[in-house]
This record gives sequence, structure tokens and C-alpha cells, in this order.
Amino acid sequence: MNVNQLIRAHLRKFAEYIPGEQPIENDWIKLNANENPYPPLPEIINDIKKKTNERLRLYPDPLAKELKTKIINKLLKKHNPPQSIDSYFVGNGTDEVLEVIYKVFIDIGDDIIYLDPSYGMYKTLSDLFGANSIEIKLNKDFSLPESLFEAKGKLLIICSPNNPTAKSFDNHLISKICETFPGIVIVDETYSDFTNKTSIPLLNRTKNLIITRTFSKSFSLASLRVGFAISNPDIIKVMNQVKLPYNLNYLSQVAAISCIDNMEKIFERNKIIISEREKITEILNNYENVEVIPSDANFILVRLKNKSQAMYIFNEMKKNKILIRYFPKPSLENYLRISIGTEEENKQLLKVFNDIANNFL
Ligand SMILES: Cc1ncc(COP(=O)(O)O)c(C=O)c1O
Repeated sequence: MNVNQLIRAHLRKFAEYIPGEQPIENDWIKLNANENPYPPLPEIINDIKKKTNERLRLYPDPLAKELKTKIINKLLKKHNPPQSIDSYFVGNGTDEVLEVIYKVFIDIGDDIIYLDPSYGMYKTLSDLFGANSIEIKLNKDFSLPESLFEAKGKLLIICSPNNPTAKSFDNHLISKICETFPGIVIVDETYSDFTNKTSIPLLNRTKNLIITRTFSKSFSLASLRVGFAISNPDIIKVMNQVKLPYNLNYLSQVAAISCIDNMEKIFERNKIIISEREKITEILNNYENVEVIPSDANFILVRLKNKSQAMYIFNEMKKNKILIRYFPKPSLENYLRISIGTEEENKQLLKVFNDIANNFL
């Protein structure tokens, strides 16, 4: 029997998403997956421990109503978000939220538009669903190109702040895209807690907009996989119908609620990440042929003179047990993406960078 022939035709050459390395040992400085360098607060660990009890024998609330209510009444309150829980979908990280959006909207051969460079999962999911990917190149300065306003398709995905360029896009442009695009516009706000920009205010007057958010980055909860979407209830209703029934486990719901209860402390601590980002940016910009793209996120994109310098630094960092990210694709071949670590980790990063620069750059 040839199993390959039984596999869905469009998946026979499917190339899976390659995540940043996750070494098992603890002695690496991990600046390759834009994780938060700080652990969840003790209050959150305590809440998880307290709730790890006989309740685990029951299935979790399939709609995570308590979490959604907290998201509306506390987490997003200052942005005047939609007030009904019918406008909210929760999932197993933004990745699952995106997958469910594709499940709702994508037929084989549909056009999906996203930017280059941007988050690699958009293409992986397009391939998975047999969609036709249309990558629109960002301008040289990583701003949105005019051609985006003429794009046609089923889904258009904008990541803001964009991974890996770290730049946000203005709401007047996103609003214009929602008006001109004939399909659904997704704004992936995975990193928006590191800036004060968000498209949430647009939701009250835009029917075809879905905003996705996560607890993985600003809330240090990447391993518990909590993401959510906000949109018009007609879209959310179908997303809830097609998701697996218990897609967000109980302890993850508990942890996310606890994060919101403690959000003031967490956002205060994240200010260190932002000030470290500014410090690293200034220091790296002093090297000849090194340019850091101004960042709105918890990572920076660094332009080197050429591909061989970028690859050399990546490899030398690895020899020194520092993991950063190099993307082997034409639009990023001269660049490195570096997540912001703890003050100690950043010091080590800058020391190793300086040693490399003295010998090579
Ligand atoms: C732009 C972007 N979207 C989504 C994700 C996935 O987030 P989650 O951990 O919530 O699945 C990431 C993770 O790095 C990301 O960079």
C-alpha cells in the first residue's frame, strides 16, 4: 500500500513550520523565540497550585466564560473593547486561534494575503488548508506598500507589531485596509502589550476585522498556550462551532485569569524589557554596518552588512550558548532577530557581540 497516495493531495509536499530551537538543557541564553525572560509571578503559580485539585476530573468550561469576562472588564478595559462575550474566542495559543479562522473561511484554492517578512505560520497554515498564498513585500523601510490597498482575497493578515520587523502599523492604514479588502482582515497583536498601539478601537465600527492576542509573550505563559480573538459575533459564533470542544484546558484558563488579576505588576515588570530593548538598540547601533530597526516589541531586528556576517554572528552566538534567530529567506538574509532577555542575559549577549565585532566585523 502506498500511504503517500492516501494523503490529501495538497499535503504530499507540505513543509511544516520550523519553530525556534527549544534545547532541553537549562544553560542556554534563549533569545530565539520572543519568550518573556521573566517567569510567571509567584501569585500565578500559587493560583495554579491551588486549583490543581479534584476539579481536574471535570472537563473545563468549553467557552472559558470567566476568562472572557475578565478580558472585557479588566485586561482590555482601557481600549473600550466589545462588551459581549459573544465577541470573544479563546484558544490554545494564537496558533490555534489562527487555525480555527482558516477552518472557518478557507476552501482549497482561496487566496490568502500576508506580508513578507512576517510570521511564518501564516504560510504554513495556508499550505495546510490548500490555500493560495500571496506574499506582499513590505517597503524597504518595512512600512506597508500601497499595493496592499488593492489586494483581493479571502483573508488578509497583518501582524502589528510585526514579527520579525518589530514595527507597528498605524490604525488609519489598518482601517483603510478593512474598507478596501473584500474579505476578512486579521490583525495579529501578539506583541502589542509592548507598545501602546492597538486596533481594538476599530472593532466597534468594522465588521470584517479579527484581532488576535496571546498570553504567551507579555504574560510569560507561552507553555500554557492561551490565545484569543476579538471580532464581530457572527464570525466568533462559527469559530466556536468548529473548534474542538475543550480546546483550552482548565489550568490554562486559571493561569490566564490570574495573569489578568495581577496585570499591573506584570506590566510594570515588562517596562524593564522595554528599557533594555532601548539600551541594546543604542549600543548595537554604535557598531559600524549594524543597524537596529526601531522596535515596538520584546525583540529587535538587526541588519548586518551582508548574509555572511549575519550567519557568522548567529553561529558564534550559538558556540557561546546564546540562541538568536536567523531566517534563511531572501527578505531576511542580512538580518538577525534577537529577543530581549533579562539584564544579565543582555549583558552577556552584548559582551559576546563585542568580541565577535572586534574579531570579525
Ligand atoms: C506574530 C506571532 N503570532 C502568533 C504567535 C504564536 O503565539 P501563541 O504562543 O499565542 O500561539 C507568535 C509566536 O511567536 C508570533 O510571533
